[in-house]
Amino acid sequence: MNKINNIKLPNESFPKTIDILNSSPVYDAKNKDAKIDLIKKLLKEKDAKIIAHYYTHEDVQEVAEITGGNVSDSLEMAKFGASQSSKMLIVAGVRFMGETAKILNPEKKILMPTLDAECSLDLNCPAPNLLEFRNLYPDRELVVYANTSAEVKAMADWVVTSSIAVKLIEYLNDRNTKIIWAPDKHLGNYLNEKTKADMKLWDASCIVHEEFKASSLLKLKEKNPDAAILVHPESPIEVIKLADVVGSTSQLIEACKNLPNQKMIVATDNRIFYKMQKAAPNKMLIEAPTGGKGATCISCAHCPWMAMNNLDNLIETLMKEKNEINIDEEIRKKAFISTNKMIDFAKNL
Ligand code: 13P
Ligand code: SF4
Repeated sequence: MNKINNIKLPNESFPKTIDILNSSPVYDAKNKDAKIDLIKKLLKEKDAKIIAHYYTHEDVQEVAEITGGNVSDSLEMAKFGASQSSKMLIVAGVRFMGETAKILNPEKKILMPTLDAECSLDLNCPAPNLLEFRNLYPDRELVVYANTSAEVKAMADWVVTSSIAVKLIEYLNDRNTKIIWAPDKHLGNYLNEKTKADMKLWDASCIVHEEFKASSLLKLKEKNPDAAILVHPESPIEVIKLADVVGSTSQLIEACKNLPNQKMIVATDNRIFYKMQKAAPNKMLIEAPTGGKGATCISCAHCPWMAMNNLDNLIETLMKEKNEINIDEEIRKKAFISTNKMIDFAKNL
């Protein structure tokens, strides 16, 4: 029997819907080559590397790649940052990714193209509310998704990303550990289905993945019976159930490359297509639908916060050394313990 319980705190006051969809800066992709040349020069001058997520604009991914930086999922971003000797890291993604880099690399200067790039999971899981929730279950270990603030990581027993979440929950379940999982309820539901662990779930979701719809995905599959369905586990469980492969962004790219199918239906942020198509140039990539008949999408399969990163604010950040991530040292030290446990756990897999 699944031991699962979704909890909503009675006095929720944190944001459930976020009106940020029109706040991305308008990016003018003109003069790309000149911008990339300038970034190369600045990176050398400042002894810096760019770490970018797959959901950022392809120009940002490209410049990270050709300058010896990194484009990857959130676990690999954290590992790459920790493996570098450069003095400065520019994290092109969302705030929790910059914070994770600082947690693991306090001696490095961590800058971000914008500090406005949030994540709906992080925003909907404030540390004081989570503490209240945690206090209801003193016999449970708190496992938090990496998409959380440094304060939340500081109170957690474990931090985990989607690429190793099943493995970690299996590991804890094998030891009869009872779990509080926060913040992503969809990933929590998936983990619970997979492992049957005893879990209490926080109630938050990703505004991008939540929009994928099982009914319209099924119709798309009927039209493309030879396609494999690749799904990120932040999607609703009904969508996950239709998947041939469920995994982190890097794992989905690997699956696209390795599966025999020529067509892929992909349920994650559509900016992943840039690297996915490079990894599998001959495959046909199809976006999973974000609505049923008559429905309109809000995020339309692209994270509005990831979209805030571009070559212009990357240049400005490097030039002015602005948008630095700073974390209170007490909090950072505590967050380091749970975050570093994740890195060690991943090493031992
Ligand atoms: P990955 O770790 O799979 O890249 O996921 C991060 C994320 O925020 C997906 O929405
Ligand atoms: Fe957060 Fe979703 Fe954006 Fe990922 S895609 S950063 S989970 S809001």
